[in-house]
Amino acid sequence: MGGFFGFIWHQWTFTPKPLAASKSLEGKTVLITGGNIGLGFEAAKELASHRVSNLIMAVRDTKKGETAKEAILKESPDVKIEIWELDYDSYDSIIVFGERVKTLERLDYALLNAGLKQMQYTTAKLGHETNVQINHLGTSLVSLQILPALEKTAKATGKPSRLTIVSSEGHFWIPFNERTAPNILAKMDEKETFGKQMNRYYTTKLLNVLWARELATKIKKEEVVLNTVNPGFCYSGLHRHEKTGIIKIFLWAFGWTTQQGAHCLTDALVEHEDSHGEYLSEQKVVPPSNFVLSDEGQKVQKKIWNETLDVFKKEVPKADIRSFEA
Ligand SMILES: NC(=O)c1ccc[n+]([C@@H]2O[C@H](COP(=O)([O-])OP(=O)(O)OC[C@H]3O[C@@H](n4cnc5c(N)ncnc54)[C@H](OP(=O)(O)O)[C@@H]3O)[C@@H](O)[C@H]2O)c1
Repeated sequence: MGGFFGFIWHQWTFTPKPLAASKSLEGKTVLITGGNIGLGFEAAKELASHRVSNLIMAVRDTKKGETAKEAILKESPDVKIEIWELDYDSYDSIIVFGERVKTLERLDYALLNAGLKQMQYTTAKLGHETNVQINHLGTSLVSLQILPALEKTAKATGKPSRLTIVSSEGHFWIPFNERTAPNILAKMDEKETFGKQMNRYYTTKLLNVLWARELATKIKKEEVVLNTVNPGFCYSGLHRHEKTGIIKIFLWAFGWTTQQGAHCLTDALVEHEDSHGEYLSEQKVVPPSNFVLSDEGQKVQKKIWNETLDVFKKEVPKADIRSFEA
């Protein structure tokens, strides 16, 4: 879809469905980032109800994680749930987390859902603009750190593991003026380029799509099926920085419930075995924005990939990204 009226139309007319009751995830290990609240929490709850054997909820505040775990155990008491610490605004945290993931016997499904919508220019602890740090750099580095475990599991089971990155339909709606800069990510760190309201947030959701599409070309789909998903416009804490009441009116008029948004995440993660490199919206594979598909978009995709690896090489020398260097 992509256009604003198309967006409203499918928010009104489409109702996301949960996984089929018969879907069994017995024996599977599932990892969800940002699982303590919002869409991630509801997705964790839904997956647990399908008898996941080991559910790892990676959260930046383990107390909040433990509260979420208790809530899920009330409905799915037999599931083993582990709360692991992970802060996308700390490379040390991501590296420690990545090393821990490597010790897992198996990792079948990983849902990279953690994210935020910061509507005013701020910098994260690591110095980058906050949306860029959390939504793009954090997500991208975590994706690289967990790949070995996903690939190892696929070799052992003979079935591809699954990796889903949560994006947004908003990736269609941005001017992305920074795309012509000599260094796009450096430009996005500059306060003057922040733009209005949700522009920067949506641009980082575009970066999720570009990163995932490029990463998908570098891994074997027989080992890891990687896709991105739009959860739809849903009630959640994501909108907490909105200063006007308009968002409340929009949510009231056509927002989906947090559970409905989570159904889109679980569907992208568990179903659609042929969706490697694809973008899902309304629980089906659809084309991403015209920009992503354009010649310019393809060039920018590679540029973002290289710039991101350069950031990691410079700022996170401990990160294991060697196999992806040109
Ligand atoms: N809701 C929507 O309408 C909508 C639409 C399109 C896309 N999305 C995407 O859906 C995903 C989930 O968002 P949501 O709507 O569920 O929002 P949410 O309720 O605010 O949940 C966001 C999650 O991300 C975590 N997080 C934030 N910063 C983090 C960091 N530095 N390190 C680790 N985790 C961090 C949060 O942890 P804390 O609780 O500790 O803050 C929380 O668990 C996001 O990627 C968002 O962009 C949402």
